[in-house]
Amino acid sequence: MYRIGKEEIDAAAKVIYSKQLFRVGGELHECDNFEKEWAEKLGVKYSLLITGGGTAALTSAIAACQIGPGDEVLIPGYTWIATASAVLTCGAIPVICEIDETLTIDPEDIKRKITPQTKAIIPVHMAGHPCEMDTICQIAKEHGLYVIEDCCQNDGGTYKGKRVGTWGDMGCFSFNYFKIISSGEGGCFITNNEELFQRAACYCDCGSFFWSDIEFKFPVFVAQQFRANEIQGAIMREQLKKLDSIIADLKRVRKTLIAELSDCLKFIPSKSPEEDTGVNVVIEFPDEAAGRAFCEKIGAIAMMGIDHGKHIFTNWTPLQTKTAYHVPAMNPFNFPQNKGLRANYGAEVCPKTLEYLKKYAFVAIDPDWTDEELKDIIAKLRAAAK
Ligand SMILES: Cc1ncc(COP(=O)(O)O)c(C=O)c1O
Repeated sequence: MYRIGKEEIDAAAKVIYSKQLFRVGGELHECDNFEKEWAEKLGVKYSLLITGGGTAALTSAIAACQIGPGDEVLIPGYTWIATASAVLTCGAIPVICEIDETLTIDPEDIKRKITPQTKAIIPVHMAGHPCEMDTICQIAKEHGLYVIEDCCQNDGGTYKGKRVGTWGDMGCFSFNYFKIISSGEGGCFITNNEELFQRAACYCDCGSFFWSDIEFKFPVFVAQQFRANEIQGAIMREQLKKLDSIIADLKRVRKTLIAELSDCLKFIPSKSPEEDTGVNVVIEFPDEAAGRAFCEKIGAIAMMGIDHGKHIFTNWTPLQTKTAYHVPAMNPFNFPQNKGLRANYGAEVCPKTLEYLKKYAFVAIDPDWTDEELKDIIAKLRAAAK
């Protein structure tokens, strides 16, 4: 979480004093207004704020695309485990693709991994680094696949002048504590497609959606309950006002670090260097030992990619052990429809991904660093590079 203060306190207090915390029936309409403002900001027709976070947004989007047993969904091997678990929650099988040198899903590996069972691609805009969305959407179009963008780590980012989340069929965002804008937890999905919106919305309220005037175009189905509340809506409206300045400062700090240090450090490339909303700078080293030695000199803000725990497919325990549900009968790995699908999660599936993460050191950026602090960081990174 980067910027939170009096504005959010006042907005939350207003809701509490009104005693209308439920999103339905009150006069403040904080959730409704956030959804309108967020959709307008991104340039899409539909948006739904939810309590369940990015995981719930992804699950709702996958369900909206009617993906289930017998289907494969392509995801990168470097993403938070939630991307994989959302696929499994819907009964489908995640198939792991390589990332390329930019830390985002490799379009060439997407092409290699498509089969007749593939139903969707989930590109993940990791740590603010945008995916190659034009190429990915083209591949999806050629093969009749859905594209569900995981923008959980890139709230408000762009690629080629267009917001991430608006390239594919649906975009999913997280507003948890670690994200660019935040209400502690929560998330959102967006789309331009009315039917996908309706299906995802249906998934978010036990198939009732009693408080909406939507007339569903399909038989409603039982699902989850992710309704947002007015405090969350009010906080997110204030966070949204801060989004542009946070992104501008992330970019400014990032650009300064790269400009000042490119003579002594090898920064990894980006699919869109000018727009990259990277919440870190990533430096390539000849090997893991050199990267680790560098991180040790920098301290808490530096970390090797290979230490990113549950962001790496080889550490996704429920996939490694094939125990993807609370009872065996509901475990997608046991479904007869999923027999023969490529549920392989060994290191050999994506060796390049692991190689990159072993050579990459991440240095976290703070958009609120003063000029003085930034100067100190630059000096520290330069000294550690020697
Ligand atoms: C890439 C990615 N996808 C999905 C999620 C899930 O979001 P949430 O924690 O809000 O459910 C996260 C959260 O960290 C994430 O980083």
